[in-house]
Amino acid sequence: MNRCATFVLIVAFGIVSQLSHGAEVTVQDKDGKLCLYANLMVNFSVSYEVTGNKSATVEFELPGNVTTDGSECDTKSSTLKLNFGEGHSWSVNFTLSENVYQADFVTFSYNLSDTTRFPNSVSNDTTRVTVKPHITDVRMDTCYSCKSNDMIEADLVNQTLWNVLIQAFVSNDSRSENITSCAADLPTTAVVPTTHSTSTTTAAPVTTPTAPPTTTTPTPTLPTPSTGKYSIKPDENSTACLLASFGLRIGYKQADKYQEMNFDPNGTIVSGSCEVNSSELVLVSNTLTLMFTFTNDTKKFRLRALNVTGTTSSGVHFSEANTNLSLWEAAVSSSYMCNKEQNYTITSQLTLYTFNLQVQPVGVQKGVFSTAEECQADADSFLVPIAVGVALLVLILIVLLAYFIGRKRNTATGYESF
Ligand SMILES: *[C@@H]1O[C@H](CO)[C@@H](O)[C@H](O)[C@H]1NC(C)=O
Ligand SMILES: *[C@@H]1O[C@H](CO)[C@@H](O)[C@H](O)[C@H]1NC(C)=O
Ligand SMILES: *[C@@H]1O[C@H](CO)[C@@H](O)[C@H](O)[C@H]1NC(C)=O
Ligand SMILES: *[C@@H]1O[C@H](CO)[C@@H](O)[C@H](O)[C@H]1NC(C)=O
Ligand SMILES: *[C@@H]1O[C@H](CO)[C@@H](O)[C@H](O)[C@H]1NC(C)=O
Ligand SMILES: *[C@@H]1O[C@H](CO)[C@@H](O)[C@H](O)[C@H]1NC(C)=O
Ligand SMILES: *[C@@H]1O[C@H](CO)[C@@H](O)[C@H](O)[C@H]1NC(C)=O
Ligand SMILES: *[C@@H]1O[C@H](CO)[C@@H](O)[C@H](O)[C@H]1NC(C)=O
Ligand SMILES: *[C@@H]1O[C@H](CO)[C@@H](O)[C@H](O)[C@H]1NC(C)=O
Ligand SMILES: *[C@@H]1O[C@H](CO)[C@@H](O)[C@H](O)[C@H]1NC(C)=O
Ligand SMILES: *[C@@H]1O[C@H](CO)[C@@H](O)[C@H](O)[C@H]1NC(C)=O
Ligand SMILES: *[C@@H]1O[C@H](CO)[C@@H](O)[C@H](O)[C@H]1NC(C)=O
Repeated sequence: MNRCATFVLIVAFGIVSQLSHGAEVTVQDKDGKLCLYANLMVNFSVSYEVTGNKSATVEFELPGNVTTDGSECDTKSSTLKLNFGEGHSWSVNFTLSENVYQADFVTFSYNLSDTTRFPNSVSNDTTRVTVKPHITDVRMDTCYSCKSNDMIEADLVNQTLWNVLIQAFVSNDSRSENITSCAADLPTTAVVPTTHSTSTTTAAPVTTPTAPPTTTTPTPTLPTPSTGKYSIKPDENSTACLLASFGLRIGYKQADKYQEMNFDPNGTIVSGSCEVNSSELVLVSNTLTLMFTFTNDTKKFRLRALNVTGTTSSGVHFSEANTNLSLWEAAVSSSYMCNKEQNYTITSQLTLYTFNLQVQPVGVQKGVFSTAEECQADADSFLVPIAVGVALLVLILIVLLAYFIGRKRNTATGYESF
């Protein structure tokens, strides 16, 4: 009787703790087996533009009632997508390699038309931010647990993850009782906290070795920015007079605080012009405006000026320009190309990173890039295989030569001995 009462109490407690626990979800694979489990809290802080040219910041929590449409599991990668409210979603994708898994990025998508969450919003778009979470090196067949706050900052959106319990790549249709704790949860003493949300069987916590010290690194590495293709036409019935194709990232330093943001080509407004001796390309995204000015003489063109204005994730507006550059130089009848990641110091506070770059601001024929002049970094990476090839060829020649000389000697000595 007494025992029964405690049992009921435990069950009741279980439900209560569940409620204060945010979203708890499971995802099944194609065969209907449990493949992903998550129980977590996320607090969002979103800054957006309101009428009167002002910005407002709202804070809300990931609600408990979410749907998992769009979640999926594969053997080496899986996605957890939590949909809530009026078209908002929070998703995280995991990859598995060599018995450890990690979260690669978190994408938060929010619908600014939702007037209850974003009153007086000027925009009615659905906006997405992608950030890198600090969930790495989780041993296969263990749950990742992090009760501590994990704040991820991004442009206009801060997300705080807390009371997180996640297992991706679940095997045998059941959640593991073993835990990989985040570094922040590990106390300086040897006691590892067990997660109360794991069921009645005693959890055997996995201790430090799998929790990397790197989890405390402040700047998460961003994914490689997507490559955008841009062109400017002198008028609507002509072919392009300026072509550019690149992935961009901006690094901005303000009072010892350095942060990077990727330029999202999706939804970018492109404008510009082509003059006799110069041309201009202006790219406007949600958070960044870049103005490229190219100049040319009869022989060469170059990037002469760059003006970048934007807003950091902490809401700081900045405007940095350098009108005395001499970058991306190539002959007027060609294009400039640099596939390797490059960084350029534009001002003391601003750094530009480029990926898969190709530009041609003058002399574009038939709307396509002319022959490319490649940057030194690309040329260097070509030199290595060439050098290796030449070395191999020389080696083969030496071996062949040695063989023939050896044969000749042998036959010679053969004749002598007879
Ligand atoms: C998240 O928000 C809730 C309510 O808005 C608050 O009680 C809680 O302390 C917040 N947690 C964090 C980690 O910010
Ligand atoms: C809005 O604010 C920006 C700077 O914050 C300013 O340059 C612009 O003129 C303002 N626009 C209006 C319509 O007030
Ligand atoms: C965004 O919110 C508006 C207003 O609540 C709604 O009509 C619309 O369907 C939502 N968009 C999406 C993609 O759900
Ligand atoms: C969004 O706003 C634009 C102009 O601000 C308007 O033309 C459009 O109809 C709106 N779309 C929706 C779905 O409300
Ligand atoms: C938990 O970890 C222990 C020791 O590492 C192991 O023996 C046990 O099989 C694990 N349990 C589960 C359910 O994975
Ligand atoms: C472009 O061509 C269309 C039809 O060929 C013509 O009606 C229009 O005026 C032209 N526009 C310009 C700017 O030349
Ligand atoms: C661009 O954004 C739209 C709407 O937000 C989305 O449907 C589309 O898939 C995005 N394209 C890329 C390449 O991300
Ligand atoms: C272009 O440059 C040439 C030589 O520097 C100069 O003579 C010419 O006036 C310039 N044209 C324009 C439109 O600026
Ligand atoms: C720049 O290039 C254009 C097109 O090739 C050419 O017409 C112009 O003369 C060049 N400008 C200078 C200053 O040589
Ligand atoms: C994000 O966090 C930073 C640092 O705590 C803060 O300065 C900024 O205002 C926050 N941004 C938003 C949108 O809440
Ligand atoms: C850069 O662009 C901003 C906004 O368009 C403008 O206010 C500023 O004067 C520009 N700076 C330079 C050096 O052109
Ligand atoms: C910038 O590029 C140089 C080589 O061009 C490289 O050594 C350096 O690490 C890069 N810096 C950053 C912050 O990526």
